[in-house]
Amino acid sequence: MRCFASDNYSGVHPEIMEALNRANYEHMPSYGNDAITTRTIALFKDLFGEPCEVFFVYNGTGANTLALAALTQRFNTVICSEWAHIHVDESTAPENFTGCKLVSVPSHNGKITPEAVEEKIHRLGDPHHAQARVISISQLTEYATVYHPEEIRALSLLAKKYGLYLHMDGARISNAAVSLNLTFRAFTREAGVDIVSFGGTKNGMMFGEAIVIFNPALAQNFAYIRKLGMQLHSKTRYISAQFEALLSNDLWKRNATHANRMARKLADELSRFPEVKITQPVDGNGVFAVLPPQLIKPLQDEVFFYVWNEKRNEVRLMCSFDTQEEEIKRFVNRLSKLLNA
Ligand SMILES: Cc1ncc(COP(=O)(O)O)c(C=O)c1O
Repeated sequence: MRCFASDNYSGVHPEIMEALNRANYEHMPSYGNDAITTRTIALFKDLFGEPCEVFFVYNGTGANTLALAALTQRFNTVICSEWAHIHVDESTAPENFTGCKLVSVPSHNGKITPEAVEEKIHRLGDPHHAQARVISISQLTEYATVYHPEEIRALSLLAKKYGLYLHMDGARISNAAVSLNLTFRAFTREAGVDIVSFGGTKNGMMFGEAIVIFNPALAQNFAYIRKLGMQLHSKTRYISAQFEALLSNDLWKRNATHANRMARKLADELSRFPEVKITQPVDGNGVFAVLPPQLIKPLQDEVFFYVWNEKRNEVRLMCSFDTQEEEIKRFVNRLSKLLNA
């Protein structure tokens, strides 16, 4: 049964499964020295432009943690939103692996502003104080909202002013590209982002994320960092083959367009009920809403989802590439019946 729990509750898109099967023949060089990986890196370079270095890893926590490790030393801080995945959903992996301190700032609709970030940049050059080095943003944000290129550019200008780097956690970067109707390049490299964790898992892959680095100097040691971080897959071809399929025939776009469209439809349906309050702009593939508390459990029994903020009875409803109108109908019908009971 499909549900609204998360976009990683969904399975693997059939075109990805076929790509895995196609890669599954004979022997090929290991550790990414195979022809599929070479071709797939070329696809990324086409999307993002040169110079750009691309590294495949297993998961999002690994991508974020290693990206931050490439940018920092142990006396640095990474500034991010209070809701950032690196801050609340990756245990202490980023801190443990990089040795850095994460400094969180309040966000509005999941987004951080240059003003809020600047308050956390202080005492640069003072050896007694942790030294700010990275601003990290999520695109989409954890509230499934999207940063517009000018908002990213403003953060990048702030980063440059103080000699910091800008990292983008792009676990849902395809949903963002579709939402903005822009190329990946337009809101990453051209907006001043230094390094991107490019998500595959939430958009129809079985597993796998890519780290895209625009400045070759920052990529210099990355191969060693990835191995040290236990994220170098000996059969890398099975990650690259999935990305090759995702980036071919616009699969990334088809999947993300569908997921975003389903979230929009769900939000439109929910907005007909005055008892339901949608709390965030619906930019991507998620809907955040406050529900009457007594309805949460019966609705979860109909189409499962998670409560995001228990105090506020705010729930998170995520759509994915395989969400069907049927789930939306079931959810809305049940809601309607419960409200009229
Ligand atoms: C914003 C964000 N970043 C990264 C990730 C990837 O996490 P994982 O380590 O589970 O692949 C997720 C998954 O929930 C996410 O929502």
